[in-house]
Order: sequence, then C-alpha cells, then structure tokens
Amino acid sequence: MLPKKVEKILNEQIQKEDYSSQLYLAMASWAENRGMGGVAEWLYAQSEEEREHMLKLVRFINERDGVAVIPAMDKPPTDFENIRALFDKVLEHEQYISASIHDIVTVCMEERDFATQNWIQWFVNEQIEEESSVRVIIDKLKLLGDKNIYMFDRDIMSMRGEEKESEA
Ligand code: FEO
Repeated sequence: MLPKKVEKILNEQIQKEDYSSQLYLAMASWAENRGMGGVAEWLYAQSEEEREHMLKLVRFINERDGVAVIPAMDKPPTDFENIRALFDKVLEHEQYISASIHDIVTVCMEERDFATQNWIQWFVNEQIEEESSVRVIIDKLKLLGDKNIYMFDRDIMSMRGEEKESEA
C-alpha cells in the first residue's frame, strides 16, 4: 500500500510528465513549421518518451494499490524565440523535473517507503541522461552558431542515436 503522501507526490509527477510531453510536442510542431525536420523528429521522440514516463507512474501507482489520477492538461507555449532559446528552455524544464524527482525521493525516505524509493531511482538516472543529452545539443549549437542551423538540423537525430547506443 502506498503511503498517502507518496501517492500524492507521484500523482503530481504524472501531471509534470504529461506537461513535458505536451511541451515537447508543441516545440516539435514549431520546429516542423520552420523547416527544421531533424529538430522536430528529436522533439517528437522526446514527447513520446515523456508520455512513457507518465504511463510508468500511472501503472506503478495502481499496482501499489493507489489511485492514479489523469490530470487536465495545461496548454504549452506555441511560440519560441529561436532554436537556441528553445533548447535552453528544454534544459531548464528538465532541471525542474530532476528537482521534482528528488523531492519524491525525499518524501519516500520520510515515509519509509523504500519500495518506491528504489523504483524511483530509474527516474533519477533517466534525468541524468536527459539533462546531459540537452547539454550536448546546446554545446553543439554554441559551436555552430546561428548560421549553421541547417547542419545542426541534419545532425541532431544522429546525436540521439549515439546517446541511445551508449545507454544500451
Ligand atoms: Fe520525464 Fe524529461 O523527464
């Protein structure tokens, strides 16, 4: 049985992962409309991953005899200043998500829910990967500068491929 405080904070995380999925979907659509097919694909794939994170939480709460609540969705922004500003926002958002995962670990420890504390470690590790992959993208953008967005757009999916290979 999940302690009530753990159930509550896991449900809050469902909402955050769901919002992440919507945010990256909105970003993907923005990029696609500006001819950046590679960036759009990266963001569409990221949006799918966030949905998987949300589903993981839903299933875990229900398996542990809690009640997962599917939240209403906040509308994500529809416009972004430029591609660098967009990825800065992705990094800022992932840092916010990492902090909220760490809050879950803290509540698990306070409630002595060691099963959930152990389970949530997957998310702790996933956040290290997610923040690091966005930092690699931002570093590449810094190197290429505004004039080489075409090259960046062409390369971004192979950067994702490299990350996934190194995780396997
Ligand atoms: Fe599910 Fe990108 O955090």
